[in-house]
Amino acid sequence: MKKLAVLLSCCLYAICIQSETLSSPDGRITLDFSLTGDGKPQYSLQYDGKPVVQPSTLGFDLTDGRSLKDGFDIASVSTSHTDRTWKPVWGEVSEIRDKFNEMSVDLLHKPDSVKIVLRFRLFDDGLGFRYEFPKQQNLSYFRVSNELTEFRLAGDHKTFWIPANFDSNEYYYTTSKFSEIDARSADGRGIGTHKIASPTGVQSPLMMKSSDGLYINIFEAALADYPAMHLNADTSALSLNVLLAPDAYGTKAYLQTPCKTPWRTVIVSDDATDILASKTILNLNEPCKIEDTGFIKPQKYVGVWWEMHVPLHGSWNYADIGNIKLDSVDWNKLVPNGRHAANTVNVKKYIDFAAEHGFSSVLVEGWNVGWEDWAGNWKEEVFDFVTPYPDFDIAELSEYAKSKGVKLMMHHETSGSASNYERRLDEAVDFMKKYGYDAVKTGYVGWIIPRGEAHDGQWMVNHYSRVIKKMAENDIMINQHEPVRPTGQHRTYPNLMACEAARGNEFNAWSYGNPPEHETILPFTRLMGGPMDYTPGIFEIKMSAYQSGNDCQVHTTLAKQLALYVTMYSPLQMAADLPENYEKHPDAFKFIEDVAVDWDDTKILEAEPGDYITIARKAKGSEEWFVGAITDENPRETDIPLSFLDKGKKYIATIYSDAANAHWKDNPKAYKITTRTITSKSKLKLKLACGGGCAISLRPRP
Ligand code: NOJ
Ligand code: CA
Repeated sequence: MKKLAVLLSCCLYAICIQSETLSSPDGRITLDFSLTGDGKPQYSLQYDGKPVVQPSTLGFDLTDGRSLKDGFDIASVSTSHTDRTWKPVWGEVSEIRDKFNEMSVDLLHKPDSVKIVLRFRLFDDGLGFRYEFPKQQNLSYFRVSNELTEFRLAGDHKTFWIPANFDSNEYYYTTSKFSEIDARSADGRGIGTHKIASPTGVQSPLMMKSSDGLYINIFEAALADYPAMHLNADTSALSLNVLLAPDAYGTKAYLQTPCKTPWRTVIVSDDATDILASKTILNLNEPCKIEDTGFIKPQKYVGVWWEMHVPLHGSWNYADIGNIKLDSVDWNKLVPNGRHAANTVNVKKYIDFAAEHGFSSVLVEGWNVGWEDWAGNWKEEVFDFVTPYPDFDIAELSEYAKSKGVKLMMHHETSGSASNYERRLDEAVDFMKKYGYDAVKTGYVGWIIPRGEAHDGQWMVNHYSRVIKKMAENDIMINQHEPVRPTGQHRTYPNLMACEAARGNEFNAWSYGNPPEHETILPFTRLMGGPMDYTPGIFEIKMSAYQSGNDCQVHTTLAKQLALYVTMYSPLQMAADLPENYEKHPDAFKFIEDVAVDWDDTKILEAEPGDYITIARKAKGSEEWFVGAITDENPRETDIPLSFLDKGKKYIATIYSDAANAHWKDNPKAYKITTRTITSKSKLKLKLACGGGCAISLRPRP
C-alpha cells in the first residue's frame, strides 16, 4: 500500500470538514472524498492529475420525506489493499487480476442517527463505489424516491449515447457533444416499447472522450435487487444524475437493511484499448456461486431463426389467425399457413447442418403454441412453454438430435409477461429436462406484466435473476433477449452465457438497420457488462435477395461479419444465416467453423470508439490465435504487429479480407482469402473497405 495516501482533517469554517484521498495501486488515479460544511458527502476523481469527475454529491431521498444528502458526520475511515487473481469459468482471458485500494467511510446521518457506509475501490483503470446500509435501529425497511449520485464532468466531452428508456436499449448510438444530448431526437422506429424516460436521459454504460484524450466510461456493476442505472444529463452544467425506473407508485427501490446498492463505476484511461481490456466490472461482482460448472459449455449454434426475420420467408406462427385464447384452441384443427418454420422436416435439416459443420446446438423458435397472437397486446397468457405445434414432433426431434450429437436449444418468448412465465417456470424446466435441453433463450418483447413494472425496474431485475438461478439449479445455460443490460453477473452465474440488451444484427433484416459504426461502439458500451448475442455471420447481406425491391440490408461487408466473431466477444456465438447461404460460400464459412469461443488470452491491438477495433485472441487450451479487425463507414489501412505470437514459431495465417472493390453498400459480398507464413516479427498490412473488416486465423505450422 506504499502509494496509498490518506489525508485527514483539514479544518475550514466553524465546522470541521474532513477530506480523504485514495490512490490507485499504480498511483495514476486519485479519489478525493469530503464532507462539505453542511455535511454533504462528495467525491471527485483525477487521472494523472487531470479532472475526470469534479466534486459531485452522493446520497438519497426516501419516500418517507427523509433526505440522506446532508447532515452527515464521518464516524470512521478505514483503508486496505487487495491483490488477488481468479479464474473465470469462461472468458476472454484465463486468469483475472483483481488489484485495488479500498477506502470505506462510515457516515452518520446526525438528524436521525442513520448509518451508511460508502465503499470506494480504486483499480488501475478506474473507480467503483457503492452505498451500504448496515442493519440498525433507525433504518430497517425504507423506500428510495431518488438516488442523488452525481457525476460532474470536467468538459463538454464527445459522447456516445442512446436515450434513456426503461423498456428498451435497442437504439443506434448518437455521437454528439455532451451539451448537445437530446433524447427526444432519438429514432424509435422499429422499437415496440419506444418511450423516452427524460428529455436528456441517456443509458449507461455511457462512453465519452475528453478533448484532451481521456476515455471515460460511466456504468455500474453487480446490479441486484435495485433498478438499472440510467443517467440524466444536465447539458448546461455538464453533469449526470442517476435516473432509476420507478414502479407504478413512483418508488425506485424497496430496501431492507442490511443491504447495499450496485457499484457505480468510472473507468478511465488515455488509451481506448484499456477500456476494452478492463476487468473492473467483473472484479466488482461476486465469485462464482455454481458449485459444479461442468454443464456450462461455450459454444457456437445455428437456429431456425433468421428465416423468420428476413422478408417473405418462415413464420413463428403455425396458422394465420389473430385473437386466440391459449386454453380454447384445438391446435390440431387449425389450418397451417404453410410457412411455419419450426416443423420437423426443417428442424432436421438444421440438425444435419449443425452435425456436419461442428455446431453444438440448434435454436428453434416458434416451436410452441401461441405465436398467432403474441405481440403488441400487453396480454397476460400468451404462451404455456410446454405445448408444441402439431407439426413439431419434439420426441422425434430430440432423439434425432441426440443421434447426431447435437443439442436442441429451447426458446421461451414471454411477450413481457414475466408473471405468466414465473407461474409456469417449474413446468417449463421439467419439460426441457424431459427432452434433454440444456440451454434456453428467453425473450421479453413488449411492455412488462405485472403492468406498471419496467424491464429496467427493481422487480424485473429480480425476475431475471430468479430465472438465471432457477436455470443454474437445473444445469441449464441461458441467453436472455430484452433483459436489463448485464453488469458482470456472469462471474457469479456463468450459466448466463449471453444477453441481447442492445440493437442486434436482426435490425438489419427488417428496418433501416444498424449504421456501419454500430459494432465499433457496442464493445465500449453494452459489452462492458457482459457478452452479447449479436448473431453475426450474415452472408446474404441484402434483403432484396429474398424480396425484390426490399432495400433493407446488413450494413457491413461479408468479411466484417466474420471479424465480429472476434471483436464482439461472447462464449455463445450464432452462425445466424441460413444453411443454404453458407453452402454458397464454403471457403468463407470455414472461418466460422474454425473460430474459437473461449479464450486463454486477449490482446486489444487498436481501438477507437465509433471508428475501429482490432483484437487478437488465443483459443483456450490451444496454440491458435484469431484476429478480428473492423472499421466504420470509412475505409482503413493498418499494419498489425504480431509480436504477441510465440517467438521463434512459424504460423500459417489464413486471411479473410475485403476484396479491393468491396463496399458495405455497393459490393458487400466481395472478399478474398489468402494464406501466408508469418512469425512474431511479421507485420500484417490490412485493408478494410468502407463498412468492412478482416478476420484471420493463425495456426502454428507443423
Ligand atoms: C426478439 C428477439 O431479439 C429475437 O431474437 C426473437 O426472434 C424475437 N424476439 C421473437 O422472440
Ligand atoms: Ca466513426
